[in-house]
Amino acid sequence: MVRENIMERLRVEESLVEQTGFNPYYIEINSGLENRLLAKGQSFINLASNNYLGLAADERVKEAAIRAVEKYGVSLCGTPIATGYIDLYKKLEQELSSFIGLEDAIILPSCYQANNGLFLALARKEDLIIVDRNAHSSLIQGIKAVGCKIRPFLHNNLEHLAGILQRSHKYRQVFVVTESVFSTDGTIAPLKAIIDLCEEYQALPIVDDSHGLGVLGSGGRGILEEQQIPDFPGIYTASLGKALANAGGVVGGRKELIKYLKYYCPHLVYSTALPPAVLGGLEAVLDIIKTEFPLIKKRLYLYKQLINEALIEADFSVIPSKAPINSLNTGSKENTFLVAKRLYEEGILATPFIEPAVPIKQGRVRLIAGANLSQGTIEEAIAIIEGLGQQ
Ligand SMILES: Cc1ncc(COP(=O)(O)O)c(C=O)c1O
Repeated sequence: MVRENIMERLRVEESLVEQTGFNPYYIEINSGLENRLLAKGQSFINLASNNYLGLAADERVKEAAIRAVEKYGVSLCGTPIATGYIDLYKKLEQELSSFIGLEDAIILPSCYQANNGLFLALARKEDLIIVDRNAHSSLIQGIKAVGCKIRPFLHNNLEHLAGILQRSHKYRQVFVVTESVFSTDGTIAPLKAIIDLCEEYQALPIVDDSHGLGVLGSGGRGILEEQQIPDFPGIYTASLGKALANAGGVVGGRKELIKYLKYYCPHLVYSTALPPAVLGGLEAVLDIIKTEFPLIKKRLYLYKQLINEALIEADFSVIPSKAPINSLNTGSKENTFLVAKRLYEEGILATPFIEPAVPIKQGRVRLIAGANLSQGTIEEAIAIIEGLGQQ
């Protein structure tokens, strides 16, 4: 066989950027997530980050991170199974696990790794994985890596899911995978009903609560609190880089499961442990959520509502959602870029999603207003959106 030069094959398709005169990706950021964000040296209203509670640049969180660095240095230069498992790590796992309402939990360097490693550690070729068709790339890639039978079910559609489960008896193990709050649309899974179906057909539910943890429930404890699921029988994952304003991915569930993953999940065993600054910061965020969540939540949902009303008034097609996410249905890739570009030109940073992150021709532009933004900033954002509506 004639070998080809791989470098000649690696071309990024840039026609969309040429066509729209805008590249919304890898924008250089020059500040932290303050009330205003500096990007390419310009000040923006930031509606693009997952900083729901607005704690990423909170002074108390920064101080906790600095204290952790002073005590432990910047890295333990080891994986958790080796020298990376400092007391702060263990304490945080215990605190997170009881905060969310899990029997036990472990922390990986990211939720992407968690969602990948999970399937590699637990599933085999003779299994079936049933997954909501809108599930996040990290889940899909992890599932595909197993090489087993995969059946997508229609988004949040219990009837379709039940139909697939009814025909699943020949498999050794069946997993049912969903997000809690779907990241691109803000729709929320009927998790309790999914668990009931799993019980009926002896399947194992897996939920990714990345956009629910620190957001849903009366105490910010996520989907299990929101839907009153006290004894979750499945596997729980969540990113710590969204409302919890840091980095890392938690995996939770029964004690035996967590013990098994501690030794057999390669993405945990062979990857350097999260650094002390991250662990210290996360502890401080948990403390803040435990005491201040009702107040922060009020602001977060008020901002969502105000922006939602402005978007609807301005004739944008907004996906109905109970989560603090406003997602615009922008259709084609071109239109998705153009909507993000208009917002950008007016000083608003938002997140455009095109395929493969969303199904073809179902582009989205997502806006999340963190609770740290001032009332004045939100009013400015609303005025900009109203102005766009008039054009
Ligand atoms: C639903 C969902 N799961 C997992 C991830 C990955 O999380 P992390 O950034 O911690 O790797 C994301 C991040 O975009 C997400 O939205």
